[in-house]
Amino acid sequence: MKASRRPLLVAGFAVIAAGALALSGCSGNSGGSNGQSSGDDSHGPITFVQGKDNNNLIRPIIDEWNSKHPKEKVTFKEQSDNADQQHDDLVQHFQAKSTDYDVVAVDVIWTAEFAAKGWLAPLKGDLKLDTSKMLPATVKAGTYGGTLYTAPWVTDGGLLYYRTDLIKTPPTTWDEMMKDCSIAKAHNIGCYAGQYADYEGLTVNVAEAINSAGGTIVGKDGKTPTLDTPEAKKGLEAIVDAFKDGNIPAAAQTYQEEQGRQAFEAGQLLFHRNWPYIYSLASTDGSSKVKGKFAVAPLPGVDGPGASSLGGHNIAVSAYSKHKGTAVDFIKFMETEEIQRQAVTKASNAPALASLYDDPELNKQLPYLSTLKKSLDTAVPRPVSPFYPAITKAIEDDSFAAIKGTTSVDDALSDMQKAIKTAGAGS
Ligand code: GLC
Repeated sequence: MKASRRPLLVAGFAVIAAGALALSGCSGNSGGSNGQSSGDDSHGPITFVQGKDNNNLIRPIIDEWNSKHPKEKVTFKEQSDNADQQHDDLVQHFQAKSTDYDVVAVDVIWTAEFAAKGWLAPLKGDLKLDTSKMLPATVKAGTYGGTLYTAPWVTDGGLLYYRTDLIKTPPTTWDEMMKDCSIAKAHNIGCYAGQYADYEGLTVNVAEAINSAGGTIVGKDGKTPTLDTPEAKKGLEAIVDAFKDGNIPAAAQTYQEEQGRQAFEAGQLLFHRNWPYIYSLASTDGSSKVKGKFAVAPLPGVDGPGASSLGGHNIAVSAYSKHKGTAVDFIKFMETEEIQRQAVTKASNAPALASLYDDPELNKQLPYLSTLKKSLDTAVPRPVSPFYPAITKAIEDDSFAAIKGTTSVDDALSDMQKAIKTAGAGS
Protein backbone atom coordinates (compact mmCIF):
# COMPACT_ATOMS: atom_id res chain seq x y z
CA MET A 1 0.00 0.00 0.00
CA LYS A 2 2.81 2.33 0.90
CA ALA A 3 4.74 1.59 -2.26
CA SER A 4 1.75 2.37 -4.42
CA ARG A 5 1.07 5.66 -2.68
CA ARG A 6 4.51 7.20 -2.86
CA PRO A 7 4.54 7.81 -6.66
CA LEU A 8 1.27 9.65 -6.18
CA LEU A 9 2.96 11.86 -3.65
CA VAL A 10 5.75 12.66 -6.03
CA ALA A 11 3.22 13.54 -8.69
CA GLY A 12 1.58 15.75 -6.06
CA PHE A 13 4.84 17.66 -5.53
CA ALA A 14 5.18 18.20 -9.23
CA VAL A 15 1.70 19.66 -9.60
CA ILE A 16 2.12 21.97 -6.64
CA ALA A 17 5.64 22.91 -7.70
CA ALA A 18 4.40 23.89 -11.14
CA GLY A 19 1.74 26.10 -9.57
CA ALA A 20 4.22 27.74 -7.21
CA LEU A 21 6.67 28.38 -10.02
CA ALA A 22 4.03 29.88 -12.25
CA LEU A 23 3.15 32.25 -9.46
CA SER A 24 6.65 33.22 -8.55
CA GLY A 25 6.75 35.21 -11.79
CA CYS A 26 4.16 37.59 -10.39
CA SER A 27 5.89 37.85 -6.98
CA GLY A 28 3.01 36.24 -5.14
CA ASN A 29 2.33 39.46 -3.26
CA SER A 30 0.68 41.58 -5.88
CA GLY A 31 -2.52 39.63 -5.97
CA GLY A 32 -1.33 38.12 -9.23
CA SER A 33 -3.96 36.18 -11.05
CA ASN A 34 -6.37 36.20 -8.16
CA GLY A 35 -8.56 38.94 -9.49
CA GLN A 36 -7.93 41.31 -6.61
CA SER A 37 -8.61 44.29 -8.85
CA SER A 38 -12.18 43.19 -9.44
CA GLY A 39 -14.48 43.28 -6.51
CA ASP A 40 -12.36 44.12 -3.44
CA ASP A 41 -15.01 46.59 -2.39
CA SER A 42 -17.98 44.74 -3.83
CA HIS A 43 -20.72 43.80 -1.43
CA GLY A 44 -23.47 41.20 -1.50
CA PRO A 45 -24.39 37.76 -0.17
CA ILE A 46 -21.50 35.47 0.72
CA THR A 47 -20.84 31.91 1.89
CA PHE A 48 -18.70 31.02 4.89
CA VAL A 49 -17.07 27.60 4.83
CA GLN A 50 -15.60 25.69 7.75
CA GLY A 51 -15.43 22.23 9.30
CA LYS A 52 -18.13 20.75 11.49
CA ASP A 53 -19.51 23.22 13.99
CA ASN A 54 -19.32 20.76 16.87
CA ASN A 55 -20.26 23.30 19.54
CA ASN A 56 -23.05 25.08 17.62
CA LEU A 57 -21.11 28.30 17.73
CA ILE A 58 -21.27 29.48 14.12
CA ARG A 59 -24.98 29.50 13.27
CA PRO A 60 -25.98 31.99 16.00
CA ILE A 61 -23.06 34.25 15.01
CA ILE A 62 -24.21 34.18 11.39
CA ASP A 63 -27.81 34.86 12.47
CA GLU A 64 -26.59 37.91 14.36
CA TRP A 65 -24.68 39.16 11.29
CA ASN A 66 -27.60 38.46 8.95
CA SER A 67 -30.07 40.39 11.08
CA LYS A 68 -27.82 43.45 10.79
CA HIS A 69 -26.88 42.96 7.10
CA PRO A 70 -29.99 41.89 5.18
CA LYS A 71 -28.39 42.68 1.82
CA GLU A 72 -25.12 40.89 2.62
CA LYS A 73 -26.39 37.68 4.12
CA VAL A 74 -23.94 34.93 5.02
CA THR A 75 -24.79 31.32 4.20
CA PHE A 76 -22.98 28.66 6.23
CA LYS A 77 -21.43 25.75 4.37
CA GLU A 78 -20.49 23.18 7.01
CA GLN A 79 -17.83 20.66 6.02
CA SER A 80 -17.12 17.35 7.74
CA ASP A 81 -15.05 17.11 10.94
CA ASN A 82 -12.09 15.48 9.15
CA ALA A 83 -9.17 17.82 8.41
CA ASP A 84 -8.19 15.97 5.21
CA GLN A 85 -11.72 16.13 3.79
CA GLN A 86 -11.95 19.84 4.63
CA HIS A 87 -8.68 20.44 2.78
CA ASP A 88 -9.71 18.45 -0.29
CA ASP A 89 -13.10 20.18 -0.50
CA LEU A 90 -11.42 23.60 -0.52
CA VAL A 91 -8.81 22.49 -3.07
CA GLN A 92 -11.52 21.21 -5.43
CA HIS A 93 -13.39 24.50 -5.24
CA PHE A 94 -10.25 26.57 -5.75
CA GLN A 95 -9.09 24.46 -8.65
CA ALA A 96 -12.46 24.99 -10.32
CA LYS A 97 -12.13 28.75 -9.58
CA SER A 98 -15.49 28.41 -7.90
CA THR A 99 -17.20 31.62 -6.82
CA ASP A 100 -19.37 29.65 -4.37
CA TYR A 101 -16.96 30.03 -1.45
CA ASP A 102 -16.20 33.54 -0.16
CA VAL A 103 -14.80 33.26 3.37
CA VAL A 104 -13.01 30.02 4.14
CA ALA A 105 -11.56 28.59 7.33
CA VAL A 106 -7.92 27.72 6.64
CA ASP A 107 -6.10 25.27 8.90
CA VAL A 108 -2.76 26.84 9.89
CA ILE A 109 -0.94 24.19 7.88
CA TRP A 110 -2.60 25.10 4.57
CA THR A 111 -1.64 28.78 4.40
CA ALA A 112 1.57 28.27 2.44
CA GLU A 113 0.00 25.90 -0.09
CA PHE A 114 -3.12 28.02 -0.72
CA ALA A 115 -1.21 31.30 -0.83
CA ALA A 116 1.45 29.95 -3.20
CA LYS A 117 -1.29 28.77 -5.53
CA GLY A 118 -2.94 32.21 -5.59
CA TRP A 119 -6.18 30.91 -4.07
CA LEU A 120 -6.40 33.46 -1.25
CA ALA A 121 -6.82 37.21 -1.63
CA PRO A 122 -3.95 39.02 0.16
CA LEU A 123 -5.31 40.90 3.16
CA LYS A 124 -3.95 44.28 2.16
CA GLY A 125 -5.18 47.40 0.41
CA ASP A 126 -8.98 47.45 0.66
CA LEU A 127 -8.85 44.11 2.48
CA LYS A 128 -6.36 45.22 5.13
CA LEU A 129 -6.93 44.05 8.70
CA ASP A 130 -5.52 45.19 12.03
CA THR A 131 -3.87 42.15 13.66
CA SER A 132 -1.95 44.02 16.36
CA LYS A 133 -4.09 42.57 19.17
CA MET A 134 -3.93 38.97 18.00
CA LEU A 135 -1.61 36.24 19.31
CA PRO A 136 1.63 36.61 17.33
CA ALA A 137 1.77 32.87 16.47
CA THR A 138 -1.63 33.08 14.77
CA VAL A 139 -0.58 36.10 12.71
CA LYS A 140 2.62 34.31 11.71
CA ALA A 141 0.60 31.25 10.74
CA GLY A 142 -1.48 33.42 8.42
CA THR A 143 1.50 35.09 6.74
CA TYR A 144 3.27 33.78 3.66
CA GLY A 145 6.14 35.50 1.89
CA GLY A 146 5.69 38.54 4.12
CA THR A 147 2.00 39.02 3.22
CA LEU A 148 -0.97 38.27 5.45
CA TYR A 149 -3.38 35.88 3.73
CA THR A 150 -5.47 34.57 6.59
CA ALA A 151 -6.87 36.35 9.61
CA PRO A 152 -6.54 34.83 13.09
CA TRP A 153 -9.81 33.24 14.21
CA VAL A 154 -9.46 30.17 16.45
CA THR A 155 -6.12 28.92 17.61
CA ASP A 156 -5.55 25.39 18.91
CA GLY A 157 -3.17 23.82 21.38
CA GLY A 158 -3.16 20.21 22.53
CA LEU A 159 -4.17 19.53 26.14
CA LEU A 160 -3.97 16.50 28.41
CA TYR A 161 -7.47 15.78 29.70
CA TYR A 162 -7.41 13.61 32.82
CA ARG A 163 -9.91 12.14 35.24
CA THR A 164 -9.81 14.05 38.52
CA ASP A 165 -11.82 11.33 40.27
CA LEU A 166 -9.04 8.81 39.58
CA ILE A 167 -5.85 10.91 39.57
CA LYS A 168 -4.95 13.61 42.10
CA THR A 169 -1.90 15.12 40.43
CA PRO A 170 -1.59 14.87 36.65
CA PRO A 171 1.68 13.46 35.28
CA THR A 172 4.12 15.98 33.83
CA THR A 173 6.25 13.43 31.97
CA TRP A 174 5.38 10.62 29.57
CA ASP A 175 7.07 8.06 31.89
CA GLU A 176 4.97 9.21 34.85
CA MET A 177 1.86 8.91 32.72
CA MET A 178 2.79 5.37 31.67
CA LYS A 179 3.25 4.46 35.37
CA ASP A 180 -0.21 5.86 36.13
CA CYS A 181 -1.62 3.37 33.62
CA SER A 182 -1.83 0.86 36.47
CA ILE A 183 -4.69 3.00 37.80
CA ALA A 184 -6.51 2.67 34.49
CA LYS A 185 -5.98 -1.10 34.56
CA ALA A 186 -7.36 -1.33 38.09
CA HIS A 187 -10.52 0.45 36.88
CA ASN A 188 -10.72 -1.60 33.72
CA ILE A 189 -10.51 1.37 31.38
CA GLY A 190 -8.03 2.44 28.69
CA CYS A 191 -5.09 4.51 29.87
CA TYR A 192 -4.28 7.08 27.19
CA ALA A 193 -5.27 8.00 23.65
CA GLY A 194 -4.75 10.79 21.20
CA GLN A 195 -5.60 10.68 17.49
CA TYR A 196 -3.92 7.82 15.61
CA ALA A 197 -6.05 7.18 12.52
CA ASP A 198 -4.17 7.66 9.25
CA TYR A 199 -4.94 11.37 8.66
CA GLU A 200 -3.68 14.85 9.63
CA GLY A 201 -4.35 14.27 13.33
CA LEU A 202 -1.71 11.53 13.32
CA THR A 203 0.90 14.01 12.10
CA VAL A 204 -0.15 16.30 14.95
CA ASN A 205 0.28 13.53 17.54
CA VAL A 206 3.56 12.19 16.13
CA ALA A 207 4.98 15.72 15.90
CA GLU A 208 4.01 16.30 19.55
CA ALA A 209 5.65 13.03 20.65
CA ILE A 210 8.84 13.92 18.78
CA ASN A 211 8.90 17.54 19.96
CA SER A 212 8.11 16.47 23.51
CA ALA A 213 11.05 14.05 23.42
CA GLY A 214 13.34 16.94 22.48
CA GLY A 215 13.40 16.24 18.74
CA THR A 216 12.12 18.10 15.71
CA ILE A 217 10.58 17.18 12.35
CA VAL A 218 12.50 19.80 10.36
CA GLY A 219 15.42 22.07 11.21
CA LYS A 220 15.44 25.83 11.69
CA ASP A 221 15.23 26.44 7.92
CA GLY A 222 11.78 24.86 8.07
CA LYS A 223 12.51 22.23 5.45
CA THR A 224 15.56 20.09 6.21
CA PRO A 225 14.27 16.90 7.86
CA THR A 226 15.69 16.06 11.28
CA LEU A 227 14.15 12.67 11.88
CA ASP A 228 17.47 10.82 12.03
CA THR A 229 18.07 11.73 15.68
CA PRO A 230 17.79 9.68 18.90
CA GLU A 231 15.17 12.17 20.15
CA ALA A 232 12.92 11.68 17.12
CA LYS A 233 13.26 7.92 17.60
CA LYS A 234 12.40 8.19 21.27
CA GLY A 235 9.27 10.20 20.41
CA LEU A 236 7.81 7.83 17.83
CA GLU A 237 8.88 4.82 19.87
CA ALA A 238 6.94 6.09 22.87
CA ILE A 239 3.69 5.85 20.89
CA VAL A 240 4.55 2.54 19.23
CA ASP A 241 5.55 0.95 22.57
CA ALA A 242 2.40 2.21 24.29
CA PHE A 243 0.31 0.50 21.60
CA LYS A 244 2.37 -2.67 22.05
CA ASP A 245 1.84 -2.86 25.80
CA GLY A 246 -1.78 -1.75 25.60
CA ASN A 247 -1.33 1.55 27.46
CA ILE A 248 -2.85 3.07 24.34
CA PRO A 249 -5.84 0.87 23.46
CA ALA A 250 -5.74 -0.70 19.98
CA ALA A 251 -9.07 1.01 19.18
CA ALA A 252 -7.24 4.34 19.14
CA GLN A 253 -5.81 3.42 15.71
CA THR A 254 -9.21 4.51 14.38
CA TYR A 255 -9.51 7.67 16.48
CA GLN A 256 -9.86 11.12 15.02
CA GLU A 257 -10.77 13.96 17.40
CA GLU A 258 -14.43 13.02 17.67
CA GLN A 259 -13.97 9.30 18.36
CA GLY A 260 -11.41 10.11 21.07
CA ARG A 261 -13.75 12.63 22.63
CA GLN A 262 -16.58 10.10 22.66
CA ALA A 263 -14.37 7.47 24.36
CA PHE A 264 -13.28 10.00 27.00
CA GLU A 265 -16.84 11.19 27.58
CA ALA A 266 -17.98 7.57 27.92
CA GLY A 267 -15.50 7.18 30.78
CA GLN A 268 -13.30 4.76 28.84
CA LEU A 269 -10.02 6.66 29.15
CA LEU A 270 -7.96 7.89 32.08
CA PHE A 271 -5.96 10.36 29.94
CA HIS A 272 -6.85 11.87 26.62
CA ARG A 273 -5.02 14.24 24.30
CA ASN A 274 -7.36 16.57 22.45
CA TRP A 275 -7.96 20.22 21.52
CA PRO A 276 -9.73 22.80 23.71
CA TYR A 277 -13.11 22.41 21.95
CA ILE A 278 -13.91 19.19 23.80
CA TYR A 279 -13.70 20.90 27.20
CA SER A 280 -17.13 22.46 26.81
CA LEU A 281 -18.67 19.38 25.18
CA ALA A 282 -17.40 16.97 27.85
CA SER A 283 -18.74 19.38 30.49
CA THR A 284 -22.19 19.84 28.99
CA ASP A 285 -23.11 16.86 26.79
CA GLY A 286 -26.10 15.04 28.23
CA SER A 287 -24.36 11.73 27.62
CA SER A 288 -20.98 12.74 29.10
CA LYS A 289 -20.10 10.51 32.05
CA VAL A 290 -17.14 12.67 33.01
CA LYS A 291 -18.95 15.94 33.74
CA GLY A 292 -17.25 17.58 36.71
CA LYS A 293 -14.74 14.71 36.84
CA PHE A 294 -11.95 15.97 34.62
CA ALA A 295 -9.40 18.72 34.29
CA VAL A 296 -6.64 19.63 31.86
CA ALA A 297 -2.86 19.74 32.15
CA PRO A 298 -0.04 20.45 29.68
CA LEU A 299 0.94 17.50 27.48
CA PRO A 300 3.64 15.40 29.18
CA GLY A 301 7.27 15.52 28.00
CA VAL A 302 10.61 14.01 29.00
CA ASP A 303 11.68 16.01 32.07
CA GLY A 304 8.58 18.12 32.41
CA PRO A 305 5.75 19.38 30.19
CA GLY A 306 6.03 18.50 26.52
CA ALA A 307 5.21 20.58 23.47
CA SER A 308 1.92 20.78 21.61
CA SER A 309 1.63 21.13 17.87
CA LEU A 310 0.24 24.52 16.92
CA GLY A 311 -3.21 24.01 15.48
CA GLY A 312 -6.11 26.21 14.62
CA HIS A 313 -8.03 27.81 11.82
CA ASN A 314 -7.68 31.29 10.46
CA ILE A 315 -10.20 32.77 8.05
CA ALA A 316 -9.49 34.05 4.57
CA VAL A 317 -11.11 35.58 1.53
CA SER A 318 -11.20 33.32 -1.53
CA ALA A 319 -9.43 34.84 -4.52
CA TYR A 320 -12.54 33.93 -6.53
CA SER A 321 -15.08 35.62 -4.26
CA LYS A 322 -17.32 38.10 -6.05
CA HIS A 323 -18.09 39.98 -2.86
CA LYS A 324 -14.73 40.53 -1.24
CA GLY A 325 -15.86 43.72 0.47
CA THR A 326 -18.53 41.87 2.42
CA ALA A 327 -16.15 38.95 2.96
CA VAL A 328 -13.58 41.12 4.72
CA ASP A 329 -16.26 42.96 6.73
CA PHE A 330 -17.52 39.58 7.95
CA ILE A 331 -13.97 38.59 8.92
CA LYS A 332 -13.62 41.84 10.89
CA PHE A 333 -16.87 41.01 12.67
CA MET A 334 -15.56 37.54 13.56
CA GLU A 335 -12.48 39.18 15.08
CA THR A 336 -14.38 41.54 17.37
CA GLU A 337 -13.99 41.01 21.09
CA GLU A 338 -17.68 40.18 21.37
CA ILE A 339 -17.45 37.26 18.94
CA GLN A 340 -14.08 36.11 20.25
CA ARG A 341 -15.62 35.95 23.72
CA GLN A 342 -18.47 33.84 22.41
CA ALA A 343 -15.98 31.46 20.83
CA VAL A 344 -14.26 30.84 24.13
CA THR A 345 -17.28 30.83 26.44
CA LYS A 346 -19.61 28.80 24.22
CA ALA A 347 -17.21 26.49 22.45
CA SER A 348 -14.11 26.57 24.70
CA ASN A 349 -12.19 27.50 21.57
CA ALA A 350 -8.83 29.13 22.17
CA PRO A 351 -9.33 32.74 21.10
CA ALA A 352 -6.91 34.52 18.79
CA LEU A 353 -7.39 37.80 20.68
CA ALA A 354 -4.47 37.86 23.14
CA SER A 355 -6.07 40.00 25.88
CA LEU A 356 -8.78 37.43 26.63
CA TYR A 357 -6.29 35.05 28.27
CA ASP A 358 -5.67 37.63 31.02
CA ASP A 359 -9.31 38.58 31.51
CA PRO A 360 -10.08 37.93 35.22
CA GLU A 361 -13.80 37.22 34.62
CA LEU A 362 -13.06 34.68 31.90
CA ASN A 363 -10.39 33.01 34.01
CA LYS A 364 -12.85 32.58 36.85
CA GLN A 365 -15.42 31.07 34.56
CA LEU A 366 -13.00 28.95 32.51
CA PRO A 367 -10.28 27.49 34.74
CA TYR A 368 -8.44 25.87 31.83
CA LEU A 369 -7.48 29.21 30.21
CA SER A 370 -4.06 29.52 31.85
CA THR A 371 -3.10 25.92 30.95
CA LEU A 372 -4.24 26.59 27.43
CA LYS A 373 -2.13 29.74 27.23
CA LYS A 374 0.92 27.73 28.40
CA SER A 375 0.25 25.13 25.72
CA LEU A 376 -0.03 27.84 23.06
CA ASP A 377 3.07 29.72 24.21
CA THR A 378 5.24 26.68 23.60
CA ALA A 379 3.30 25.21 20.66
CA VAL A 380 5.44 24.11 17.74
CA PRO A 381 4.25 24.79 14.17
CA ARG A 382 4.18 21.86 11.78
CA PRO A 383 6.50 22.33 8.78
CA VAL A 384 5.57 25.44 6.77
CA SER A 385 5.72 24.59 3.09
CA PRO A 386 3.65 24.84 -0.08
CA PHE A 387 4.38 21.10 -0.29
CA TYR A 388 2.91 20.36 3.12
CA PRO A 389 0.36 17.84 1.79
CA ALA A 390 3.18 15.57 0.65
CA ILE A 391 5.16 16.06 3.87
CA THR A 392 2.24 15.19 6.10
CA LYS A 393 1.26 12.21 3.95
CA ALA A 394 4.71 10.72 4.48
CA ILE A 395 4.52 11.29 8.26
CA GLU A 396 1.02 9.82 8.47
CA ASP A 397 1.62 6.73 6.35
CA ASP A 398 4.98 5.82 7.85
CA SER A 399 3.91 6.42 11.45
CA PHE A 400 0.70 4.48 10.91
CA ALA A 401 2.72 1.53 9.58
CA ALA A 402 4.99 1.71 12.65
CA ILE A 403 1.98 1.82 14.98
CA LYS A 404 0.44 -1.19 13.28
CA GLY A 405 3.79 -2.97 13.50
CA THR A 406 4.16 -3.49 9.75
CA THR A 407 7.36 -1.45 9.71
CA SER A 408 10.03 -0.72 12.32
CA VAL A 409 10.39 2.69 13.96
CA ASP A 410 13.83 3.08 12.32
CA ASP A 411 12.52 2.31 8.84
CA ALA A 412 9.49 4.56 9.32
CA LEU A 413 11.70 7.48 10.34
CA SER A 414 14.20 7.02 7.53
CA ASP A 415 11.38 6.80 5.00
CA MET A 416 9.87 10.04 6.34
CA GLN A 417 13.30 11.65 6.28
CA LYS A 418 13.67 10.80 2.58
CA ALA A 419 10.16 11.94 1.65
CA ILE A 420 10.52 15.28 3.42
CA LYS A 421 13.89 15.86 1.77
CA THR A 422 12.28 15.27 -1.63
CA ALA A 423 9.51 17.74 -0.81
CA GLY A 424 12.04 20.34 0.40
CA ALA A 425 14.07 19.95 -2.76
CA GLY A 426 11.07 21.11 -4.75
CA SER A 427 10.63 24.33 -2.83
C1 GLC B 1 -7.63 20.67 14.53
C2 GLC B 1 -6.52 21.72 14.44
C3 GLC B 1 -5.82 21.65 13.13
C4 GLC B 1 -5.33 20.24 12.85
C5 GLC B 1 -6.49 19.24 12.95
C6 GLC B 1 -5.97 17.81 12.83
O1 GLC B 1 -8.68 21.00 13.69
O2 GLC B 1 -7.03 23.00 14.66
O3 GLC B 1 -4.74 22.55 13.07
O4 GLC B 1 -4.70 20.15 11.60
O5 GLC B 1 -7.15 19.39 14.19
O6 GLC B 1 -6.98 16.89 12.89
